Amino acid sequence: MCKDGWTVCEYREVSSTNLTAAKLPAWSAVRAQTQTAGRGRFQRTWVSDQGGLWLSAVIPTGKTKDWQVLPLAVGLAVCKTFRSLGVQNARMRWPNDVLVQDRKLAGLLIDQFFPGLAVAGIGINVSNQPEKQDSSLKQHTARLADLISAVPSLEKLTQDILKNLREVVTHMQAGGFRSLHSEINALWGTPRRVELDLDGVIRQGMFSCVDEEGRLILSDESGRSVSYEPHQVRHLTEI
Ligand code: BTN
Repeated sequence: MCKDGWTVCEYREVSSTNLTAAKLPAWSAVRAQTQTAGRGRFQRTWVSDQGGLWLSAVIPTGKTKDWQVLPLAVGLAVCKTFRSLGVQNARMRWPNDVLVQDRKLAGLLIDQFFPGLAVAGIGINVSNQPEKQDSSLKQHTARLADLISAVPSLEKLTQDILKNLREVVTHMQAGGFRSLHSEINALWGTPRRVELDLDGVIRQGMFSCVDEEGRLILSDESGRSVSYEPHQVRHLTEI
Protein backbone atom coordinates (compact mmCIF):
# COMPACT_ATOMS: atom_id res chain seq x y z
CA MET A 1 0.00 0.00 0.00
CA CYS A 2 1.30 3.50 -0.84
CA LYS A 3 0.04 6.54 1.06
CA ASP A 4 1.41 9.89 2.26
CA GLY A 5 4.77 9.09 0.67
CA TRP A 6 5.15 5.71 2.42
CA THR A 7 5.13 2.18 1.01
CA VAL A 8 3.63 -0.08 3.65
CA CYS A 9 4.05 -3.89 3.70
CA GLU A 10 1.59 -5.76 5.89
CA TYR A 11 2.13 -9.24 7.36
CA ARG A 12 0.16 -11.61 9.54
CA GLU A 13 3.22 -12.66 11.55
CA VAL A 14 6.93 -11.82 11.50
CA SER A 15 9.72 -12.31 14.02
CA SER A 16 10.28 -8.56 14.39
CA THR A 17 9.05 -5.80 12.10
CA ASN A 18 12.38 -3.98 12.62
CA LEU A 19 14.24 -6.99 11.20
CA THR A 20 11.80 -7.30 8.27
CA ALA A 21 12.26 -3.58 7.55
CA ALA A 22 16.07 -3.82 7.76
CA LYS A 23 16.58 -4.40 4.03
CA LEU A 24 13.96 -1.96 2.76
CA PRO A 25 14.60 1.51 1.28
CA ALA A 26 13.78 4.84 2.94
CA TRP A 27 10.10 5.65 3.46
CA SER A 28 9.11 1.98 3.58
CA ALA A 29 7.17 0.63 6.54
CA VAL A 30 6.32 -2.83 7.84
CA ARG A 31 3.31 -3.69 9.98
CA ALA A 32 2.50 -7.11 11.40
CA GLN A 33 -0.50 -8.41 13.33
CA THR A 34 1.83 -10.29 15.67
CA GLN A 35 5.57 -10.65 16.23
CA THR A 36 7.06 -13.92 17.43
CA ALA A 37 10.26 -12.25 18.68
CA GLY A 38 9.33 -8.61 19.24
CA ARG A 39 12.41 -6.71 20.40
CA GLY A 40 12.55 -4.10 23.15
CA ARG A 41 15.43 -1.95 24.34
CA PHE A 42 18.34 -3.52 26.23
CA GLN A 43 17.74 -6.91 24.51
CA ARG A 44 14.38 -7.28 26.23
CA THR A 45 11.54 -9.08 24.53
CA TRP A 46 8.46 -7.09 23.60
CA VAL A 47 5.12 -8.82 23.94
CA SER A 48 3.44 -8.36 20.54
CA ASP A 49 0.05 -10.02 20.71
CA GLN A 50 -2.90 -9.64 18.35
CA GLY A 51 -4.66 -6.27 18.60
CA GLY A 52 -1.57 -4.09 19.13
CA LEU A 53 0.21 -1.96 16.56
CA TRP A 54 3.63 -3.35 15.64
CA LEU A 55 5.13 -1.03 13.08
CA SER A 56 8.59 -0.21 11.72
CA ALA A 57 9.40 2.75 9.50
CA VAL A 58 12.60 3.22 7.48
CA ILE A 59 13.85 6.80 7.77
CA PRO A 60 16.76 8.45 5.96
CA THR A 61 19.23 9.93 8.44
CA GLY A 62 21.92 12.39 7.52
CA LYS A 63 24.24 13.44 10.30
CA THR A 64 24.98 11.24 13.33
CA LYS A 65 23.42 13.96 15.44
CA ASP A 66 20.04 13.46 13.72
CA TRP A 67 20.24 9.74 14.36
CA GLN A 68 20.87 10.31 18.06
CA VAL A 69 17.80 12.50 18.51
CA LEU A 70 15.57 10.41 16.27
CA PRO A 71 13.78 8.66 19.20
CA LEU A 72 12.57 12.08 20.37
CA ALA A 73 11.32 13.00 16.88
CA VAL A 74 9.52 9.66 16.53
CA GLY A 75 8.05 10.11 20.02
CA LEU A 76 6.74 13.50 18.94
CA ALA A 77 4.98 11.97 15.92
CA VAL A 78 3.44 9.25 18.10
CA CYS A 79 2.30 11.73 20.80
CA LYS A 80 0.81 14.03 18.15
CA THR A 81 -1.21 11.08 16.88
CA PHE A 82 -2.39 10.19 20.40
CA ARG A 83 -3.41 13.76 21.12
CA SER A 84 -5.38 13.99 17.86
CA LEU A 85 -7.28 10.89 19.03
CA GLY A 86 -8.14 12.56 22.32
CA VAL A 87 -5.40 11.12 24.56
CA GLN A 88 -4.33 14.50 25.96
CA ASN A 89 -2.25 13.20 28.85
CA ALA A 90 0.22 11.07 26.88
CA ARG A 91 3.76 12.11 27.80
CA MET A 92 7.26 11.07 26.85
CA ARG A 93 9.84 9.50 29.16
CA TRP A 94 13.31 10.16 27.82
CA PRO A 95 14.14 8.89 25.29
CA ASN A 96 11.92 6.09 24.01
CA ASP A 97 8.72 5.64 25.98
CA VAL A 98 5.25 7.12 25.73
CA LEU A 99 3.36 6.90 29.00
CA VAL A 100 -0.05 7.66 30.41
CA GLN A 101 0.02 8.03 34.19
CA ASP A 102 3.30 6.13 34.47
CA ARG A 103 1.99 3.21 32.42
CA LYS A 104 3.54 2.44 29.07
CA LEU A 105 1.28 3.04 26.09
CA ALA A 106 4.01 2.87 23.46
CA GLY A 107 7.66 1.87 23.19
CA LEU A 108 10.13 2.89 20.48
CA LEU A 109 13.21 1.05 19.29
CA ILE A 110 15.53 2.69 16.77
CA ASP A 111 17.94 0.41 14.90
CA GLN A 112 20.56 1.33 12.35
CA PHE A 113 21.33 -1.64 10.13
CA PHE A 114 22.94 0.40 7.33
CA PRO A 115 24.58 3.84 7.37
CA GLY A 116 22.19 6.62 6.37
CA LEU A 117 19.03 4.67 7.20
CA ALA A 118 17.32 4.18 10.55
CA VAL A 119 14.54 1.74 11.33
CA ALA A 120 12.11 3.24 13.81
CA GLY A 121 10.17 0.48 15.55
CA ILE A 122 6.93 1.58 17.18
CA GLY A 123 4.94 -0.68 19.47
CA ILE A 124 1.55 0.54 20.72
CA ASN A 125 -0.83 -1.26 23.03
CA VAL A 126 -4.22 -0.78 21.38
CA SER A 127 -6.74 -3.51 22.25
CA ASN A 128 -4.24 -6.31 22.87
CA GLN A 129 -3.75 -7.81 26.34
CA PRO A 130 -0.01 -8.06 26.94
CA GLU A 131 -0.51 -9.03 30.61
CA LYS A 132 -2.00 -12.36 29.45
CA GLN A 133 1.42 -13.32 28.11
CA ASP A 134 3.41 -11.68 30.88
CA SER A 135 1.57 -11.05 34.15
CA SER A 136 4.33 -8.69 35.37
CA LEU A 137 3.08 -6.16 32.77
CA LYS A 138 -0.33 -5.87 34.45
CA GLN A 139 0.37 -2.69 36.44
CA HIS A 140 2.75 -1.21 33.90
CA THR A 141 0.95 -1.02 30.58
CA ALA A 142 -1.77 1.25 29.22
CA ARG A 143 -3.94 0.52 26.15
CA LEU A 144 -5.65 2.91 23.77
CA ALA A 145 -8.88 0.91 24.16
CA ASP A 146 -8.99 1.87 27.87
CA LEU A 147 -8.34 5.56 27.18
CA ILE A 148 -10.68 6.49 24.33
CA SER A 149 -14.05 5.20 23.16
CA ALA A 150 -13.49 5.57 19.40
CA VAL A 151 -10.42 3.40 18.86
CA PRO A 152 -9.27 3.67 15.23
CA SER A 153 -8.54 0.56 13.19
CA LEU A 154 -4.90 -0.51 13.14
CA GLU A 155 -4.79 0.48 9.45
CA LYS A 156 -5.97 4.01 10.24
CA LEU A 157 -3.63 4.32 13.22
CA THR A 158 -0.74 3.21 10.98
CA GLN A 159 -1.65 5.87 8.39
CA ASP A 160 -1.92 8.63 11.01
CA ILE A 161 1.38 7.75 12.64
CA LEU A 162 3.24 7.52 9.34
CA LYS A 163 1.78 10.83 8.15
CA ASN A 164 2.89 12.59 11.35
CA LEU A 165 6.26 10.83 11.25
CA ARG A 166 6.95 11.98 7.70
CA GLU A 167 6.03 15.56 8.63
CA VAL A 168 8.22 15.56 11.74
CA VAL A 169 11.24 14.01 9.99
CA THR A 170 10.92 16.35 6.99
CA HIS A 171 10.73 19.28 9.39
CA MET A 172 13.84 18.10 11.22
CA GLN A 173 15.74 17.59 7.97
CA ALA A 174 14.94 21.15 6.90
CA GLY A 175 15.36 22.97 10.20
CA GLY A 176 17.45 20.65 12.36
CA PHE A 177 16.50 19.35 15.79
CA ARG A 178 16.11 22.90 17.11
CA SER A 179 13.00 23.33 14.94
CA LEU A 180 11.28 20.55 16.95
CA HIS A 181 12.79 21.07 20.34
CA SER A 182 10.08 23.23 21.95
CA GLU A 183 7.30 20.93 20.73
CA ILE A 184 9.24 17.99 22.18
CA ASN A 185 9.86 19.78 25.47
CA ALA A 186 6.10 20.26 25.86
CA LEU A 187 5.74 16.46 26.03
CA TRP A 188 7.73 15.59 29.16
CA GLY A 189 5.01 16.54 31.64
CA THR A 190 6.05 18.02 34.98
CA PRO A 191 9.77 18.11 35.92
CA ARG A 192 10.78 14.81 37.49
CA ARG A 193 13.51 13.52 39.73
CA VAL A 194 15.57 11.02 37.76
CA GLU A 195 18.63 8.85 38.04
CA LEU A 196 20.95 8.68 35.04
CA ASP A 197 23.24 5.74 34.35
CA LEU A 198 26.18 7.29 32.50
CA ASP A 199 27.69 3.92 31.61
CA GLY A 200 28.30 2.99 35.23
CA VAL A 201 28.48 6.48 36.74
CA ILE A 202 25.20 7.36 38.47
CA ARG A 203 23.86 10.93 38.69
CA GLN A 204 20.59 12.11 40.22
CA GLY A 205 18.76 15.37 39.61
CA MET A 206 15.71 16.97 38.04
CA PHE A 207 14.92 16.43 34.38
CA SER A 208 12.59 18.82 32.61
CA CYS A 209 13.89 19.36 29.09
CA VAL A 210 16.43 18.83 26.34
CA ASP A 211 18.36 21.71 24.78
CA GLU A 212 18.28 22.86 21.15
CA GLU A 213 20.94 20.31 20.23
CA GLY A 214 19.00 17.44 21.82
CA ARG A 215 21.23 17.21 24.93
CA LEU A 216 19.52 16.10 28.12
CA ILE A 217 19.62 18.78 30.85
CA LEU A 218 19.95 17.61 34.46
CA SER A 219 19.60 20.21 37.24
CA ASP A 220 20.73 19.76 40.83
CA GLU A 221 19.14 21.21 44.00
CA SER A 222 21.10 24.44 43.70
CA GLY A 223 19.75 24.94 40.17
CA ARG A 224 23.09 24.16 38.48
CA SER A 225 22.59 22.35 35.18
CA VAL A 226 24.71 19.83 33.33
CA SER A 227 23.92 18.70 29.79
CA TYR A 228 24.55 15.23 28.41
CA GLU A 229 24.72 14.04 24.82
CA PRO A 230 22.14 11.29 24.22
CA HIS A 231 24.86 8.64 23.70
CA GLN A 232 26.35 9.42 27.14
CA VAL A 233 23.18 8.33 28.94
CA ARG A 234 22.73 4.59 29.00
CA HIS A 235 19.53 4.65 31.01
CA LEU A 236 17.19 7.12 32.72
CA THR A 237 15.02 6.00 35.63
CA GLU A 238 12.31 8.19 37.10
CA ILE A 239 12.64 8.05 40.92
C1 BTN B 1 10.95 -0.70 24.31
O1 BTN B 1 10.17 -0.01 24.95
O2 BTN B 1 11.77 -1.43 24.88
C2 BTN B 1 10.89 -0.63 22.81
C3 BTN B 1 9.80 -1.51 22.26
C4 BTN B 1 9.69 -1.43 20.75
C5 BTN B 1 8.69 -2.42 20.21
C6 BTN B 1 8.46 -2.26 18.75
S1 BTN B 1 7.11 -3.21 18.13
C7 BTN B 1 7.58 -2.84 16.50
C8 BTN B 1 9.08 -2.93 16.44
N1 BTN B 1 9.54 -4.30 16.22
C9 BTN B 1 10.21 -4.78 17.26
O3 BTN B 1 10.71 -5.92 17.33
N2 BTN B 1 10.29 -3.86 18.23
C10 BTN B 1 9.63 -2.62 17.85
